[in-house]
Amino acid sequence: MCGIFGYLGTQNATPLLLSGLERLAYRGYDSSGIAVAGQNNDLKVLKASGKIENLLKLNAADPIEGIRGIGHTRWATHGEPTDINAHPHTSRLGNIAVVHNGIVENFNDIKKMLKASGHNFKSETDTEVIPLLIETYLKSTPSLEEAVRETVNQLEGAHAIACISSNEPEKIVVARKGNAGGIAIGFGDNEVFISSDMAALVPLTSKVAYLDSSELAVITSNKCRISTLDGKPIETKIHQVDIESYAVAKGGFKHFMLKEIMEQPEAATSVLRGRVSFSPTKFMLPSLPFETKEIQGFSRAIFLGMGTSIYAAQVGARYLENFARVPASVENAAEFRYRDSVLDEHSLVVAISQSGETADTLEALSEAKSKGARTIAITNVEASAITRIADATLLMHAGPEIGVASTKTMINSMIVMYLLASYFAQERKNFSLNEVESHVHNLSKLPALLGDAIENALCTVKSVASKYAQSKRFLFIGRGLLEPIAREGAMKLKEISYIHAEGMSAAEIKHGPIALVDQETPVIAIALNNPLYEKMITNMSQVHARKGNVIAIATTKNSSILNNADDVLWVPECPESLQPIIATIPVQMLAYEIAEHLGNDIDQPRNLAKSVTVE
Ligand code: F6R
Repeated sequence: MCGIFGYLGTQNATPLLLSGLERLAYRGYDSSGIAVAGQNNDLKVLKASGKIENLLKLNAADPIEGIRGIGHTRWATHGEPTDINAHPHTSRLGNIAVVHNGIVENFNDIKKMLKASGHNFKSETDTEVIPLLIETYLKSTPSLEEAVRETVNQLEGAHAIACISSNEPEKIVVARKGNAGGIAIGFGDNEVFISSDMAALVPLTSKVAYLDSSELAVITSNKCRISTLDGKPIETKIHQVDIESYAVAKGGFKHFMLKEIMEQPEAATSVLRGRVSFSPTKFMLPSLPFETKEIQGFSRAIFLGMGTSIYAAQVGARYLENFARVPASVENAAEFRYRDSVLDEHSLVVAISQSGETADTLEALSEAKSKGARTIAITNVEASAITRIADATLLMHAGPEIGVASTKTMINSMIVMYLLASYFAQERKNFSLNEVESHVHNLSKLPALLGDAIENALCTVKSVASKYAQSKRFLFIGRGLLEPIAREGAMKLKEISYIHAEGMSAAEIKHGPIALVDQETPVIAIALNNPLYEKMITNMSQVHARKGNVIAIATTKNSSILNNADDVLWVPECPESLQPIIATIPVQMLAYEIAEHLGNDIDQPRNLAKSVTVE
């Protein structure tokens, strides 16, 4: 949700902090700031609302220098994204600065208490209570470390914080409580970097330690000492990270989103690697710790996620039920976590989160685990918080995704769930050898099919987008496995074009939404060749009869679709089970082209962030 970056070493911290924040900008980009300890260790703070360019300009006009500092890029929760509300926040005397991810749930009580003892607040944020509390604790505790520990223990909710003080110039103290974003600590030569995620450390180091929930670290230029929030020392485990897998650059593409759409055939190849064997044909998921007997004993599965990950999960649940005959349902993680669900060791809970950091999904998964369910995390980020909760992790292997709107991670999470469902079907003996062979064969064709779908879309989407870009709203309809893709299409369009869109089962439209249909409301109908095709045609003609424009997503060569559609986006013929994956391409590209036509900020759409680490 927000990004934290810190530096302590021998170089000038300011350019390192600014470039670190630029790499973290996808996590939040409504304001940013840095605090750097200058000569005499006095803290100098620069903050600017808007994109990080504004902070860069501020620093260029009046540069600040020092060998130690912290920075933050924000996604506002409490208080508007103004200069004053931007982080870092400082103590009354200005000698302590804090950057923070998360929400201080008891901030009203703490604020009242601090006000009663004479503190004035400069900002409208919940975060400001943190430096003020640290300052208060420093009156009775000997060190910054202890004051931060006491403070974090007093905060309700989930938090990640970094703090510097001019009184203890040789250190930065960081702490994590719950799931409000990660803290990765990267080690160089006599210098240490702190970041919300590994990706932002890539140009700097490959040696990294991760802070877990309920841990605190005191960092100096050559040492990192970790302890629990109740003061027990913990060994610092340093990981050597494969930095090549984090390579990120826009290449020749105008936007990361377009690049990431184009990368999907390659991403699909990566996710299949090592998980399907062609000779003998079989599915393999070596990272799953479940014995065949346990897989055979699962009586139900619940898939959890938020946003796009829920739509991917809706496809995945249908795969699992259809292939492995395990009753499967999908729940919104934020609702599930507060619902007293009935689970036991025969329940499988699968949580999908591309970032591995979504607070609602992490909490829901922890809740499921505490009730005895067996748990799997599907994520794109190795060693992300979700991987430390689940019994097993299946990585999406999509490569870094920078565009805020998920594209290749949506495709790869559906493929991972296809693999999971097929593996379960193989182990539960629901698939015959022939069926295993035919599913392996289908998946082997997937990267090429995705490439064809992209080629087809490149030919037609731009002109359809410019024809309809001024529409006041869009409806997306689909049936069966394609219903979640209709929902995803509407989500993608809303996120980056800011045009209102709804996605639904085509059967649902006549129960209310059809009232919205008029000449300014195009209906995108995902009508591929499958057993529900005729039903789709009926729903499309209901729209046509009300003078609505229908844009069909249809299988190539199905020319009869033209009787029921004004425009067509063609996708290649493919097995029914692959249709949701293939049909995702035109809905992504339509959203992209409409947003591009409207001149929007596609990679960093307004009000959004890539990792949602708050409730
Ligand atoms: C939409 C999008 C979001 C995320 C949602 C969950 O393009 O990216 O809807 O899907 O915020 O995020 P993860 O998958 O990181 O848990």
